[in-house]
Amino acid sequence: MFEILRTIDAMRDWAKTERQTGLRLGLVPTMGALHRGHLALVEEAQRRVNRVVVSIFVNPLQFGPAEDLAQYPRNLEDDLRQLQGLNVAAVFLPDSDEMYPGGLGVTRVTIPGLSEVLCGVTRPTHFNGVATVVAKLFHIVEPNVAVFGEKDWQQLVIIRRMVYDLNFRVSIVGVPTVRAENGLALSSRNRYLTQEELKKATALYHSLQEARQLYRQGERRRDALRRVVVDVLTNAGLSYEYIELVNPLTLQPSPEYLQGPTLVALAVHVGSARLIDNAILGREQLDEAALHGNGD
Ligand code: PAJ
Repeated sequence: MFEILRTIDAMRDWAKTERQTGLRLGLVPTMGALHRGHLALVEEAQRRVNRVVVSIFVNPLQFGPAEDLAQYPRNLEDDLRQLQGLNVAAVFLPDSDEMYPGGLGVTRVTIPGLSEVLCGVTRPTHFNGVATVVAKLFHIVEPNVAVFGEKDWQQLVIIRRMVYDLNFRVSIVGVPTVRAENGLALSSRNRYLTQEELKKATALYHSLQEARQLYRQGERRRDALRRVVVDVLTNAGLSYEYIELVNPLTLQPSPEYLQGPTLVALAVHVGSARLIDNAILGREQLDEAALHGNGD
């Protein structure tokens, strides 16, 4: 059984004691409503360190005023039950007052550029909220390793940049997207979908697969690759917020003819949910050293 720590002081004390006995700590930040994607991050952390801490905190700072903070799925009992099956050492479970006493604080960690593209266009303050809470969690837990999912590729790139620029002593590890059998990327927000919408949502994965297929056949024209993604999604009756081909490290638009590894990133509305997914074309050529930054 794991410890449940609800205050910053208790979390700090616990982490300090573990560190003093020479153990390496891993942190898996989450907002709860856990699924197999989250559990894969925990397992990856366990391969790398002795003690894994999972944080569950629905961070109000990363939700826009018109977004789903109030509806965001919360099911603590089920979350804890899922974590019991794994060898988790501690669960950090602060409430909003503990993380943001007397409001939402004033200081923000901002990563200009990277946080303004893709999801940042319609969610202009989202990544500042993410980076700020993750910086706080890093200061509280002081993990050796922290694990994030590639489903949120932009988030992963932003966290790596923050860690590099602000000299956090933590290795950031990315984990490939965990999918349902039909290809749909697991997401807490899939709980907003009806059975019919869940079926429709598989078009996200199919559209990326089509682009991958075309790329394998030698297609390198950016607009042609983007076009198949648009077509699959619109044929499924879905409206998209963006579909973009960008450099996976800088998130800058790819040239008209792809030159290196390219991230295909998309955000799509399905029913009341906004879902994201991505794929990297030419991943074999991606400089994994550049990707993993400070390594482990
Ligand atoms: P949340 O959406 O709960 O996701 C927590 C972590 O799980 C993130 O690193 C996310 O990329 C990863 N994840 C989600 N679905 C996944 C999937 N299908 N496969 C692999 N990994 C997946 O992302 C957040 O919370 C928050 O922004 C957070 C980082 C906790 C800061 O509040």
